Amino acid sequence: MTTARELGNLPGNICTPTYLSEIAIALDAECDKLTTTVLEEDEMAELGMFSLLSVGEGSIQPSKLIVMEYKGGEEGDKPHVLVGKGITFDTGGISLKPGAKMDEMKFDMCGAASVIGAMESLTEMALPINVVAIVASAENMPSSKATKPGDIVTTMSGQTVEILNTDAEGRLVLCDALTYAERFEPATVVDVATLTGACIVALGHHTAGLLSNNDELADSLLAAGDFAADRAWRLPIGEEYQEQLDSNFADIANIGGPAAGTITAACFLARFTEKFAWAHLDIAGVAWNSNGKAKGSTGRCVPLLCQHLLNQVDEGEEEQEGCGHDH
Ligand code: BES
Ligand code: MN
Ligand code: ZN
Repeated sequence: MTTARELGNLPGNICTPTYLSEIAIALDAECDKLTTTVLEEDEMAELGMFSLLSVGEGSIQPSKLIVMEYKGGEEGDKPHVLVGKGITFDTGGISLKPGAKMDEMKFDMCGAASVIGAMESLTEMALPINVVAIVASAENMPSSKATKPGDIVTTMSGQTVEILNTDAEGRLVLCDALTYAERFEPATVVDVATLTGACIVALGHHTAGLLSNNDELADSLLAAGDFAADRAWRLPIGEEYQEQLDSNFADIANIGGPAAGTITAACFLARFTEKFAWAHLDIAGVAWNSNGKAKGSTGRCVPLLCQHLLNQVDEGEEEQEGCGHDH
C-alpha cells in the first residue's frame, strides 16, 4: 500500500509512463522470479494497439505497456493476470476537463499503482503461483496531434472504436491491454482502474465497484475485499446495456451516455474479455482522498488484490523463499 500511495502521490511531471516502467524494471532487478518487459510505441503499433496508442497521441510522453511476469508456480500453471490503468495525467484531451480539481487527475494511475504494489507484496510473500501484471500507461493531453471526438481507431482485437469523448480514455488503454492478456492463457484476469466519475455517484468513497463476466471470480473478489477491509460491491453488466455503446460509424462507441456510466464503461471492456474469466474494479471513489490535510492516495485496492492472490494458493503448498525485504 505504501508503494501504491507513494506512486499515486507523485506529480504528473515526475510520474510519467516512463517513470512507471522504471519502477517495474527496478522491481525485476530485486527478484529472480520476476521479469519485466516494456513494450514501446513502435512495438505496440506492430501488435495493432491503436486504441491504447490513440490516448497518448497528444502527449510528448511516450506510452508504455509494462508487463511484469512472476513465476512462483509450476511451468504449466495458468497465470492470474492483473491489469492496471496507468494514465499518469488525465486532462481529458480535446474533450478537456474543467480546471477545478484537475490536479487530482495525477491520481489517474492509481490502478497501475495498486497492481505494482500488489506485485511487490507478491515477490515478498513469494507465493507459489504464476502471476502476470500488465500496466497500460499513457498521458492524456490535448494538442494538434491529439485524438479528436469522432476519430475512429482499430483495437488489437480488430474491433473498431468511435472515440466520441477523448476523456473516456481509460477503457481505450485497457481494451488493448486486455486483448494482450489472452496470450498468457490466464486462469483469471482482474483489471483495476480509476475509470468513471459515475462510480463515485453510485458508491461514494467507501466501496469500489466490481463488474465481472464470471460469478465465481466475482464472489471470490468480494470475499477477498471483505476479509482485507478493502470492500467492493458488484454492479451488473447485462447485455441490455450494450446497445448504449452502438455506433453508426464503428463497431463500438467509447461512451454510453449519462445513464449507468460505470456499467457501460465495464460493458465496453466486456467486449474484449470474452475469452477468459474477468473482473473489473472501478476504484475512482476509493483510490484517493480529496480533503484538506487528508488529501492523497489511499493505496486501495492493494489489500484486496493481495488477498485475491493469496486465495489462489492451493492448500498445503509450502512457503517459498521471498525476495526483497522482510516485513
Ligand atoms: N479518470 C476519469 C474518471 C474519474 C473522474 C475518476 C473523476 C475520479 C474522479 C476518466 O478517465 C473519465 O474522465 N471518465 C469520464 C467518462 C465519461 C467521459 C464517459 C467521466 O467519468 O466523466
Ligand atoms: Mn478521462
Ligand atoms: Zn481517466
